[in-house]
Amino acid sequence: MFEYTISKPLMLAPMAELSHRALRELVEFFGGGDLYFTEMINAGTLLAGGPFEAFYTDGGPCPDRVVYQLVGARPEQLAAAAALLDRRENAGIDLNMGCAAPAIVRAGAGVRWMDSIDRAGELIRLVRREVKSRLSVKLRIGARDDPEYLIRFCRRLESEGVDLITLHPRTAREKFRRRPRWEYVGLLREALGIPVAGNGDIRSAEEILRRAAGPCDAVMIGRLAVRCPWIFARFRGGEAPAEKPRPAILEETALRFLELLARYQPPEFHLSRARRFFAYFCDNFRFGTYLKTRLGRERDLAGMAAVISAYVRENPDG
Ligand SMILES: Cc1cc2nc3c(=O)[nH]c(=O)nc-3n(C[C@H](O)[C@H](O)[C@H](O)COP(=O)(O)O)c2cc1C
Repeated sequence: MFEYTISKPLMLAPMAELSHRALRELVEFFGGGDLYFTEMINAGTLLAGGPFEAFYTDGGPCPDRVVYQLVGARPEQLAAAAALLDRRENAGIDLNMGCAAPAIVRAGAGVRWMDSIDRAGELIRLVRREVKSRLSVKLRIGARDDPEYLIRFCRRLESEGVDLITLHPRTAREKFRRRPRWEYVGLLREALGIPVAGNGDIRSAEEILRRAAGPCDAVMIGRLAVRCPWIFARFRGGEAPAEKPRPAILEETALRFLELLARYQPPEFHLSRARRFFAYFCDNFRFGTYLKTRLGRERDLAGMAAVISAYVRENPDG
């Protein structure tokens, strides 16, 4: 059993195609995170009643600990979508001001909100009127490495009524390159009166401990939680496997995830979401790259399950 406890909230990051009900079910099976951000939900599509919106907005199995993240470029759409989600049980509504994916940036959404303090401030004013729950923003440093601008930007968000900011301290252009500047999380925390969460490149339980001991109010974990869905349990008294779990446990976890995916996601999403999950989870195996390639050739979840079981049979050491 892990000896340490962390009193600060541990949060699952919003990740497209990953932070959905099946992953939350898996994390909860081991012992649970404190808050779960959903993958980004497109405000326009949600309002138009797209065919898959029920899956994006499924807050199970613990809706009281789910924060719905919205993405969009149009203030009135974001405000209306936030109002819609705020009517459900939730732990908050989050606005995505950090996504640097080309399609999102081209649309004027995600990190593009960070280009103008006034535009972002007016958005928050509009959304704040619609949201009774906790309103948060997840962002990057911005277009340039300019901590003074970042502080001015966040002070404006705070003055318009944002309750929590999560910083992934990289610039828009850096995507996942370069190390995240965690010292900016501390800078922001000093400059603001609201809580500031830190996120970025946490790769082990020890690193969670180290980051939580530093100047931040909460720790957000993304890819590590996909590779090791038991990671939160290590700090919350759950049944956490060791850092290097036995292959039988890895197999069991992978098969459980596939079952959850089949139960909680529409067939149209099964393959892409399973591949996304295994892109990280397979790093637990010695021949993870080979296994990812094999899984990539499968055309349904049953085929993927068979590939995993065969791999573990053929590689008893993992
Ligand atoms: C596959 C993938 C999808 C992501 N989708 C989102 C998203 O929908 N909204 C968001 O704010 N950030 C998104 N992110 C960024 C993560 O929330 C997080 O900031 C980033 O992965 C760094 O944290 P990590 O090093 O713990 O993974 C995504 C990241 C990945 C890897």
